[in-house]
Amino acid sequence: MIIHNAEIPKERVLILDFGSQYTQLIARKIRELKVYAEIVPFHTPMDEIKKEKPSAIILSGGPSSIDEKGAPQVSDEIFKLGVPVLGICYGLYLVVHAFKGKSAGASSREYGRAFITQKEKSDLFKGFKPKEQVWMSHGDKVVKMPEGFKVTASSENAEIAAIENKEKRVYGVQFHPEVYHTTNGTKFLSNFVFGICKLKPTWTMDSFIESSIATIRKDVGDGTVLLGLSGGVDSSVTAELLHKAIGDRLYCVFVNNGVLRKDEAKKVVDRYQKNMKLNLIYVDASKRFLDKLKKVEDPEKKRKIIGKEFVAVFMEEAKKIGKFDFLAQGTLYPDVIESVSTKGPSDTIKSHHNRVPEILKLIKSGKVVEPLKELFKDEVRELGVKLGMAEELIHRHPFPGPGLAIRIVGDVTPERIATLQHADEILINEIRDAGLYNKLWQIFAVFLPVKSVGVMGDKRTYENVIAIRGVTSVDAMTADWAYLPEDLLRRVSNRIINEVKGINRVVYDISSKPPSTIEWE
Ligand code: XMP
Repeated sequence: MIIHNAEIPKERVLILDFGSQYTQLIARKIRELKVYAEIVPFHTPMDEIKKEKPSAIILSGGPSSIDEKGAPQVSDEIFKLGVPVLGICYGLYLVVHAFKGKSAGASSREYGRAFITQKEKSDLFKGFKPKEQVWMSHGDKVVKMPEGFKVTASSENAEIAAIENKEKRVYGVQFHPEVYHTTNGTKFLSNFVFGICKLKPTWTMDSFIESSIATIRKDVGDGTVLLGLSGGVDSSVTAELLHKAIGDRLYCVFVNNGVLRKDEAKKVVDRYQKNMKLNLIYVDASKRFLDKLKKVEDPEKKRKIIGKEFVAVFMEEAKKIGKFDFLAQGTLYPDVIESVSTKGPSDTIKSHHNRVPEILKLIKSGKVVEPLKELFKDEVRELGVKLGMAEELIHRHPFPGPGLAIRIVGDVTPERIATLQHADEILINEIRDAGLYNKLWQIFAVFLPVKSVGVMGDKRTYENVIAIRGVTSVDAMTADWAYLPEDLLRRVSNRIINEVKGINRVVYDISSKPPSTIEWE
């Protein structure tokens, strides 16, 4: 069932997901046009779809071939809702089959960049050049046109690259307009949502804030809410929004696990306790975590210890506060989309730490507040800015839950933590000063328990190594090591070796992911 946390614009595009890796991109691109879009699995019952009152339907791509046995289907009723329908890639074949056309495996597949040529005038291609670059990924082709449709564009390997029945407002394209490499993809989607569907750009952050605050107030009533604040973007924005909605009935617990960035705890306390006067319960549990981590070298064990200890500390603090009515989480939209992944339609909801059984039980009983549940990460950042949060906080690089414990290879000791915090601070400041911080997905220092020989002044040294890991990436699934200017690397290295006690060597990590991971542990 589709449950909303905020009042969602009446005008909305519903995307039926057939398992394409690009489905989320379709939603993001449409939202960038300030039109609300949401994703549901293709097998969502028709009465639920009708209840949503979509203003338009998009049928996504998918890994299946429509002529395969058991290939996902869509009810013909979709085309009788009286709203425009656009089929993309696999979606095109659903359109073809629904209107009695035929498809077959193509003799030459088409993957990657291709060019389409317009065959007939179409509202979808308004403002397009006669020939445009698009992104293709298909192994099938249309062999018999659906009844009442005409071809509006062709490519070299797909005679039928775009079709439409203007009267019925049903469209299908072989290429992926949502993918960056389709040069005029945004214009295409904009032609669809504004030109054909006649929607208005009403999905703005201001309207979201207003309706989300009203919903939180209505749901929470005069109850109290507990939130675990990590200092990261998602939980910070959640805290600010909830604070705005319910003021001091929000309680935040911030746990210092001893492996945070330098001065992080102080910064969080200053901002939320001192400046914003939020009910912030600060727990310095460093010693407790570090005792448990003593002599633990295995990365997975480190992760488990930190995760388990966090839950224990959080629960203890919650008990001290007394009874609270709701638990808040900074869950984002990609965490809750029921994914129709390449594993097939029977695939279950993707496992996520905000969706473990205990939490799901609370969600069922209506005891969880997740005000960011409708938003993509970029939208959360935009929301943070609107709420007055500092740019620096909003655009922070991801920081793993187990923190510096997985950036200290081997044994985690207080001395090593202090050394790494210092080196990392120098690195980040230099990168910021060079104006490169926002260009990188992540950059950080790693402590290596290796000792090497050096010479400082006239003295021989025998000290540890700091590795610098800097990567560019779009989603952390794959990453390239980042090219950094030579003089910047030289300055960082000099400063770390001169200023950080116990370090006499700095190395730069030039491994991409895969096969390496971003973090060292
Ligand atoms: P890897 O190292 O797997 O990292 O290439 C991919 C992204 O995930 C982050 N990461 C974590 N985040 N808990 C987290 O909250 C973890 O245990 C964890 N391990 C890796 C990492 O920083 C990168 O952005």
